[in-house]
Amino acid sequence: MKEKMKEKMKAKMKEKVKEKDYLVRINNLKKYFQINKNTYLKAVDDVSLEIYKGETLGLVGESGCGKSTIGRTILGMYEATGGSVEFNGVKVFGMKASSTKEFKRKAQMIFQDPYASLNPRMLVSNIIAEGIDIHQLLKGKERTDRIYELLELVGLNKEHANRFPHEFSGGQRQRIGIARALAVNPEFIVCDEPISALDVSVQAQVVNLLQELQKQYGLTYLFIAHDLSMVRYISDRVAVMYLGAVMELADSNDLYEKPLHPYTKALLSAIPIPDPDIQKGRQRIILEGDVPSPINPPDGCKFVDRCSYAEEICKTKRPELLEVNPGHSVACHIWKDIKD
Ligand SMILES: Nc1ncnc2c1ncn2[C@@H]1O[C@H](COP(=O)(O)OP(=O)(O)OP(=O)(O)O)[C@@H](O)[C@H]1O
Ligand code: SF4
Ligand SMILES: [Mg+2]
Repeated sequence: MKEKMKEKMKAKMKEKVKEKDYLVRINNLKKYFQINKNTYLKAVDDVSLEIYKGETLGLVGESGCGKSTIGRTILGMYEATGGSVEFNGVKVFGMKASSTKEFKRKAQMIFQDPYASLNPRMLVSNIIAEGIDIHQLLKGKERTDRIYELLELVGLNKEHANRFPHEFSGGQRQRIGIARALAVNPEFIVCDEPISALDVSVQAQVVNLLQELQKQYGLTYLFIAHDLSMVRYISDRVAVMYLGAVMELADSNDLYEKPLHPYTKALLSAIPIPDPDIQKGRQRIILEGDVPSPINPPDGCKFVDRCSYAEEICKTKRPELLEVNPGHSVACHIWKDIKD
């Protein structure tokens, strides 16, 4: 009996330690957009995920699968239809105004399009200081010094402070967007495809900058991308989304080396491998049909219309995302029987 109690206590302690390690916990999050009186577009449909302190969680999936909507709903830019988000163990929806303000400082976003996300009529100094001004953190010389410091931190210099966004290249604009996010000393940043709009030559520089900043400030990232090859090297873990739901979640290497979900396998098979011998031996999986509309998604598995392994149960029962190997979760009724 005593042993049993001890085991129980141990399990509880473990659970507590684990809880502490989460910075963000997303529980059954839903975001439906109302299209007309009785029609809803299910952009995010029951997603549960945890993001550990100091990690980069990659979030990948085809265009329109709900990646940006998740990011925006976590940060409170969209009102959630259902579910909850915890930040440092505290529920963020419905918090009192002062706590909401503090959360909005700690959780920032870097946007996909560095051309559209910077106000063309504002000076770079004022863009970067937006958060500082909203939260009334610094004034006068201290504010100016902080702007210069931030510009240098992201690889620009103080002469850039009094220019307008159109005077910069895409990569430089993204650096301004990063400086703006960093200005308020955040803990968590949603990086929404921060390098997709940039030239390949500049992408690595921006990724390196984000990684250096993460190390320096202990930042936690949700890194959104639609290309699996892009997130592999920046992410500790990767979640694969399809039509508003998470299909698979695993450590980055595990996901790339031992994918379990048919959709992940198909996405990976489309990435060319530089080694011709490996590339020759690989089977390219072509996805049939188009991504169905999120207005009328299938009742069972969301991937059923395009899955070559689909069985009867897949049409009627939605598979849950279950941890099937340590740290590796998959949402598929028959993942065990898929051998290739
Ligand atoms: N404000 C909105 N009103 C109505 N529908 C929306 C709104 N924002 C997004 N959607 C729809 O929600 C779905 C998910 O969109 P979202 O922008 O989250 O996808 P995404 O995965 O970020 O795509 P991309 O890779 O193209 O950025 C899409 O069908 C989109 O058309
Ligand atoms: S649950 Fe069925 S339809 Fe969905 S991925 Fe697995 S086999 Fe395919
Ligand atoms: Mg998006």
